[in-house]
Amino acid sequence: MKRLNNKDLISLDRITTDEFHLILETAKKLKAEWKKKRSNKPILKGKTLAMIFEKASLRTRVTFEVAMLHLGGASISLSQTNFKLGERESVSDVAKNLERWTDGIMLRTYAHDNVIKMGKSASIPVINGLSDFSHPCQALADVLTIQEHKGSLKGKKLVYVGDGNNVAVSLAFACAHAGMNFVSVSPEGYMLDRKLLDSVADKADVSGAKLEITSDYTAAVKDADVIYTDVWTSMGQESEKEKRTEIFKNYCVNESLLANAKDDVIVMHCLPAHRGEEISADVIDGSHSVVFDQSENRLHAQKAVLALLMG
Ligand code: CP
Ligand code: NVA
Repeated sequence: MKRLNNKDLISLDRITTDEFHLILETAKKLKAEWKKKRSNKPILKGKTLAMIFEKASLRTRVTFEVAMLHLGGASISLSQTNFKLGERESVSDVAKNLERWTDGIMLRTYAHDNVIKMGKSASIPVINGLSDFSHPCQALADVLTIQEHKGSLKGKKLVYVGDGNNVAVSLAFACAHAGMNFVSVSPEGYMLDRKLLDSVADKADVSGAKLEITSDYTAAVKDADVIYTDVWTSMGQESEKEKRTEIFKNYCVNESLLANAKDDVIVMHCLPAHRGEEISADVIDGSHSVVFDQSENRLHAQKAVLALLMG
């Protein structure tokens, strides 16, 4: 199996555009193989993935576990009830133990620095399964979904509406690789950091992507091919929920917003969703919504990441 240059998948700004496309191509092949035969070649036979969860998860946990099974390997899930990074023992000691027994680590954590430390300390691959900073596996599944629905990525316009959070950051990085036009719309104080977009400007220059930040909600969605939203209050921000609900109350992806986009716009959400908050029920459950395709593609995108890092 052809490998990525890096040992780990920490964030999409740390991979090359060639690697980004290699992951997508591999995902497509593994998905086609699975759809045709209901089985994949056992690329990870005898290998084990340790999965650490400091936060809740449905999709990430199930899709990594199923991906390992389909590729002939196994996984072990360590949840926050019996596991808190840095409390019982340091990130580095956890890494040095896990590398003696397993072949890869998937980490869902609060501090992004934990993912970086884990990657530096472990000799085995480390995959970011969501940190406060980024959610790379989600964005890989998302671009795979966009490609399936739109046929190509280059020149397509993705408008992200809502909090400039971990999901927004990874989408911006993915668009920079893919040559997509990315517009992020958030209320003042919750916008993406301009410096993050500047940090991938070289990749965007090569791919032809335009990356923008705005607070003009209605103008931004004009001619959108994709409208994407996520929760107003991410995991770890629960104490801010009331304040955020007030600030974001006009940032709902609903039918009247869709009217400004292209007729064939697709609507995306990483899930879990809150109907009536960041997205209306008629939109998420309506004909433009592809949220369960995204969810399915977590499986196929992550198979590619696992195969390329651990195969
Ligand atoms: N989208 C996503 O990562 O879902 P989970 O939090 O359920 O893993
Ligand atoms: N931004 C959300 C994504 C959940 C998959 C969070 O971090 O809680």
